[in-house]
Amino acid sequence: MSNFMQAAILPEFGPATAFRIEKVAIPLPAAGQVLVKVKAIGLNPVDFKTRSGKGYASYQTLPAILGWDIAGEVVSVGDGVSKFSIGDRIFGMSNFPNPGNAYAEYAVVQEEEFAIIPKNISYEIAAGTPLAGLTAWEALFDHAGVTWGQRVLIQAAAGGVGHIAVQLAKWKRCFVAATASAANHPFLTELGVDQLVDYKTQRFEDVVEKVDVVIDGMGGETALRSIDVLNPGGILVSLPSMYKDDPAVIARAKERGVDVKWMSVRPSGERMEQLAFLLSNNRLKVQVDETFPLTEIVHAHQRLEDGHGKGKIVLTV
Ligand SMILES: NC(=O)c1ccc[n+]([C@@H]2O[C@H](COP(=O)([O-])OP(=O)(O)OC[C@H]3O[C@@H](n4cnc5c(N)ncnc54)[C@H](OP(=O)(O)O)[C@@H]3O)[C@@H](O)[C@H]2O)c1
Repeated sequence: MSNFMQAAILPEFGPATAFRIEKVAIPLPAAGQVLVKVKAIGLNPVDFKTRSGKGYASYQTLPAILGWDIAGEVVSVGDGVSKFSIGDRIFGMSNFPNPGNAYAEYAVVQEEEFAIIPKNISYEIAAGTPLAGLTAWEALFDHAGVTWGQRVLIQAAAGGVGHIAVQLAKWKRCFVAATASAANHPFLTELGVDQLVDYKTQRFEDVVEKVDVVIDGMGGETALRSIDVLNPGGILVSLPSMYKDDPAVIARAKERGVDVKWMSVRPSGERMEQLAFLLSNNRLKVQVDETFPLTEIVHAHQRLEDGHGKGKIVLTV
């Protein structure tokens, strides 16, 4: 193995065209870390926000290697590693929100943040799972405390987080209402959504009866209007961090007697194992909308930024 690898380097924050494919040194795993030969990388909106100087840009040092969602094969292990061996297929969200250095042929990851990929799952699907899957799980179960049979509304349900949240809520036998454009309705019906709202032609608050929980992947005006469909005592979990602590949302939530929470997803190997279990028995299907080779990073980011993906955009290496 040569000591060098290809990586997508970001020399400066800016547009997608800022990326450069360059040769850099392969990193070495320290204690508790493993070196992964990266096979696929999941993209998330935080990737393009960070690239443009927002998101978690302040956590990066330029030139940076962006990306957090990694699926690949273990090729060497650091001292004290007991969970994985060379040859294991593993996946996880690496080091978020600190640099994950995913957009490369090799990456060093913490063993406690990763899990084994089920045998029936491809590297592409595995790479599409971590950040979106961990977010959907945390939002529904840790922050909203969703229980069996509740009524849940999922905003931006056809997206990365949304389509996984739909399936996790259905797993708990919830009634699930969801917003998406009409083109994505057949996809969401297949995932088990009970009531679909075309956000382009309908106002969800006019057609969805009161719910216990809203998972909101839009923020802003959608978050504000979401409060109107919640039962008293209900919970809105809003995801886009740029709207965190929106005073208008806090004021309306207080007025209506509902709770509102913003969250920041955290890496977790244990949660990855739970998601792996659901993937292994087909309870969870992660949709890969489009794949691009790593060398096509510019086009992949342009597609991601368009904001109308069906499931996940994934890079292959
Ligand atoms: N705080 C956290 O820890 C955290 C974690 C993960 C994600 N996030 C944030 O949560 C948001 C969603 O993430 P994601 O990965 O799911 O994004 P995504 O995959 O890019 O979401 C794209 C989806 O949004 C839908 N959409 C666009 N406009 C809509 C509207 N007005 N109403 C309903 N749906 C609409 C699109 O559906 P159509 O194609 O049908 O229009 C598309 O399927 C992002 O802002 C992301 O940064 C935050």
